[in-house]
Amino acid sequence: MILGVLLLASNVSALPLARSFSNTLAGILSSKKKLTFDAQGNFKVVSFSDMHTGERPGDGSWAAWGPANDAATQVVHATVLDNEKPNYVVFNGDMITGENVFKENATNYLDIVYAPTVVRKIPFSSTHGNHDNANNINHAEEIEYEQTRYAELSYTRSDAGPKPYGNGNYWVPVYVKSTDWVPAAVLWFFDSRSFVSGTGDGPGPIPPAANYYWVDPNTVPNYIKLQRLLMTAVWWKVPPALVFVHIPVQKAQDLISLPTLGDHDDDAGLSTQGFLNNTYNGLDLPFWNEIVALNGGKGNVLAVTSGHDHGSSWCARSEDSSGIPICFNGHSGYGGYVTEHSVVRNGRVFNLNLADLATPVPTVKTWNSYEDNTTADAVTLGPEYLTAEKSGTA
Ligand SMILES: *[C@@H]1O[C@H](CO)[C@@H](O)[C@H](O)[C@H]1NC(C)=O
Ligand SMILES: *[C@@H]1O[C@H](CO)[C@@H](O)[C@H](O)[C@H]1NC(C)=O
Ligand SMILES: *[C@@H]1O[C@H](CO)[C@@H](O)[C@H](O)[C@H]1NC(C)=O
Repeated sequence: MILGVLLLASNVSALPLARSFSNTLAGILSSKKKLTFDAQGNFKVVSFSDMHTGERPGDGSWAAWGPANDAATQVVHATVLDNEKPNYVVFNGDMITGENVFKENATNYLDIVYAPTVVRKIPFSSTHGNHDNANNINHAEEIEYEQTRYAELSYTRSDAGPKPYGNGNYWVPVYVKSTDWVPAAVLWFFDSRSFVSGTGDGPGPIPPAANYYWVDPNTVPNYIKLQRLLMTAVWWKVPPALVFVHIPVQKAQDLISLPTLGDHDDDAGLSTQGFLNNTYNGLDLPFWNEIVALNGGKGNVLAVTSGHDHGSSWCARSEDSSGIPICFNGHSGYGGYVTEHSVVRNGRVFNLNLADLATPVPTVKTWNSYEDNTTADAVTLGPEYLTAEKSGTA
C-alpha cells in the first residue's frame, strides 16, 4: 500500500507529494541540521578507527600507560583534523577497549575519543566494534550516550538491528545545498556486532545474544532493501554512497594479495565477518548482497571501509567483490595492537566531490593522513581502479 502510493509519487506532477514522502525515509530528520557540500563542491570525510581507549594491564591493575596512550590518540586526531579540515568525521569502531573499562565510567572514554572532533565543532557519527561490546559496555549504551551528550554534532542513530549488541545501523544524507531535498551522497553505517569478554581478570562467558560476528542477517538486509526501494521511489535514484562497518566482510580476504598502496600487515583471515569457532558460515553474505544491490551494478557504492585489522590500510576491488572497492582504515589509536607498518598512526580521508559524483560512474579520491603531518596512498576509486587485476585467490 505505502509503496504503491510512493510509486504514484514518482510522477512529475506529484513532486510536492514525493517531497513529503521523503520524510518517511529513515535518514531524513527535521531535527538535524542538513549536511552540505562546501562552496568548492567538496565534502571531506575523515574516518578514524581502533582508538582502543581505556586499556589497562591484563591482571586488572592500573598503569600510567593507558591514560598516556589515550592522550597520544587525541594528538593523532587533532593533527589529522587540523591538516585535513574535514566536513565530517567517522569513528569506525573500537572506540573503547571494553573488556578493560569500569562500568561506572566506561562512557567517559567516548568523551576522550570525540574531544578533538567536538572542540573543532565537526559533525560526526560512529560505528561500533567488537571491543565496544563487553561486560561493562555495549553498543546500545555507547549509542545512547553519544546521542544524548552530543545531540548537536552526532548523527549516529539506531534504525535497525538487535539491541544491545548490534543496533548501530543507519544512514546519513549529504546535500549540495540546504534547500535541496534529494541528497547528492549518502553515508551508510553498519554494526558488525561481536563481543570481547573479560574485565581484565581473564575471559568470561559470552552472552548467547552477543555471540555473532557479522551484521545481523535477520533485520539489517531488510532495512537496507527497504531504504533502497524508498529512495528509488521518492528520489528516483540511489545516491552514491560511502559505507562504514567495523569488521571487514569476508570478501576482503580475497583482495589482500592485489598490488595496492597502503599497509598489508594483517591477513584478514579468520577475523572477517562470518566466522564462528574458526569456521566460515557465510552469514555475512545477506548483508553483503544488499550492499551489492545498493551498488546497482553502477558503481553507486564508492567504498566499503573497515577497521579491525590495525595493520591494513589499503583499498582494493575485483570481480570477487562485485567490483565494489573495499578499504581499510589503518590505526588511529595508541591503544590496541601495533604491526610493523602501523606504528605511525593515521586516519583515512575520502574527498567527495560533486564533479566526481556526476560522471556516469561516480568516483572518489581517498588517501591516508598521518600523525607526522604526511599523507600517502592516494588513489581514485572508480571504474578505472584496478580494472586489469584479478584476485590471487578465489
Ligand atoms: C575511571 O575510573 C577509574 C577508577 O576509579 C579511574 O582510575 C579512571 O581514571 C577513570 N577514567 C576516566 C576516563 O574517567
Ligand atoms: C564454539 O566453541 C565453544 C568452545 O569450544 C563451544 O562451547 C560452542 O558450543 C561452539 N559454538 C558453536 C556454534 O559451535
Ligand atoms: C605537525 O604539524 C603541527 C603544526 O604545524 C606541529 O605542531 C606538529 O609538531 C607536527 N607534528 C610532527 C610529528 O611533526
